[in-house]
Amino acid sequence: MKRLSTLQLVPGMVVADDVMTPNHQMVLPKDTVLTDSLITKLDLYGILTVHVKDEILSPPEPEHFLDSPSYFERLKSSPEFQAFKKEYEIEVDVFKNMINNVVEKNTKLEVKELLDRSLSMVANTTGNIGILDLLHNMREYDDSTFAHCLNVGLICNVFAHWLKLSDAETELVTACGLLHDVGKLLIPLDIISKPDKLTDLEYQQIQKHPLEGYQILKEQNVDERICNAALMHHERCDGSGYPLGLKGSQIDSYAKVVAIADVYDAMTAARVYRGPICPFKVIESFEAEGLQKYDVKYVLCFLENIVNSYIQNRCRLSDGREGEIIFINKMKLSRPVVRCSDENVDLAENPTLYIESLL
Ligand SMILES: [Fe+2]
Ligand SMILES: [Fe+2]
Repeated sequence: MKRLSTLQLVPGMVVADDVMTPNHQMVLPKDTVLTDSLITKLDLYGILTVHVKDEILSPPEPEHFLDSPSYFERLKSSPEFQAFKKEYEIEVDVFKNMINNVVEKNTKLEVKELLDRSLSMVANTTGNIGILDLLHNMREYDDSTFAHCLNVGLICNVFAHWLKLSDAETELVTACGLLHDVGKLLIPLDIISKPDKLTDLEYQQIQKHPLEGYQILKEQNVDERICNAALMHHERCDGSGYPLGLKGSQIDSYAKVVAIADVYDAMTAARVYRGPICPFKVIESFEAEGLQKYDVKYVLCFLENIVNSYIQNRCRLSDGREGEIIFINKMKLSRPVVRCSDENVDLAENPTLYIESLL
């Protein structure tokens, strides 16, 4: 028997004890064989760790309603995604070489070249699939700091358009995203990719990356805003962030934009064993984490734009019913109204129901 973080669970593992919420509500009984949707359920109830038995059984057959390919399965088999994946793999490699040369050999950082290369990927996506959905699905294939930085840069780029920033500002915010975690490259890889809980010492080391990043970029004489985004992207508006515990207006506005893109990418990435997580679950995590940690005007703009892009999408609810997302609740973005056959199900009024996946 061992205790694993919910992120490490895979289908087929067997629960060794009853899993309860802190207020003693049963989530899963002992001896349950985990499936993808049960792991999502644990996550949704905020269960952080679970006792599992040592043996792994073959996971039960997927529920009958999982037979038809989901939104993300269809996306991954589309020619557009395949083309994007090829280009993405090349760009991550180019990005890796450029940044490694900067960090290890102190070569001059060509921000403009970095931007042009990364943005050419966005320009080449022509179909109906949004860049965020494409990136979301790439996290299964590459979980490196480089892929993460590239993603955050591209998410910042889309976000800047949603915020209606000027072209020059959009470029700058994109560069802030691309370079926000360069400081992580100075931290040993075994700490960065450690799946278990970090020791206090390891945690302190990770927390140095904003300052390390700031110093690398400062030496390169890049724009002050880019340096600040590296320094401040883990600061939170309520003062709960690090390294300085800055609050609200003390935090550079571009660092606030990067913070949201960063958390969004981290949330979609943590599920490498399970494939892409439903976007509504990501929104719910933001809501659970507390929107006050982020700048309200930015976080609402970001989440509303994501949610709006799924209006009219078909989805499956946690009770197995299927329907169409017809109306967004502005006060509770993760819980829209879903039209199931003849009934409008308002998820804001049905707290036990949630959107399990997009169809
Ligand atoms: Fe970071
Ligand atoms: Fe990051």
